[in-house]
Amino acid sequence: MKTTHEPRPADERKATYDAVRHRLAALVQSDTDWVAAMATVACELHSAFDNFHWTGFYRTVSENHLQVGPYQGGHGCIDIAFGRGVCGTAAKERRTIRLDDVSAFPGHIACSSTTVSEIVVPVMNRDGHLVAVLDVDSDLRAAFSEIDTSELERIGSWLGRGWAPV
Ligand code: SME
Repeated sequence: MKTTHEPRPADERKATYDAVRHRLAALVQSDTDWVAAMATVACELHSAFDNFHWTGFYRTVSENHLQVGPYQGGHGCIDIAFGRGVCGTAAKERRTIRLDDVSAFPGHIACSSTTVSEIVVPVMNRDGHLVAVLDVDSDLRAAFSEIDTSELERIGSWLGRGWAPV
């Protein structure tokens, strides 16, 4: 279990995301498969930020149905229907949802009682199909900012357009 650290200042966070993207570009090759690519993204993000307590993916496995994918952190629930919880709502509405306090979101699915803030980013493939969502949880209130939104969306887009099945 990670100890909780305050989010670093904005410029440091931006530099950390830059370093994560450079490592991902070196690690994830054109012949890397989809699961290996997701696992590497989850690992690199989770290792880079002290305040990320759950970092990983829920994949679209059938119509309107997400199932957990590669992740780092404590156990995640296995199945989420589109429209349920933060992940299912982000999947259904194909939009990023960033919450300073998950208790304010009706229907939030609490995989861990210590989670306070959360961000969920849709991952689309080259055909524009939603193939997964990238979910990051933190034990800190308001751990995520516009920087996290834009940087995680950038990573999600890179992953979905380059590695997701079409
Ligand atoms: N909190 C999420 C469920 C996934 S776990 O946080 C890993 C949700 O409400 O969709």
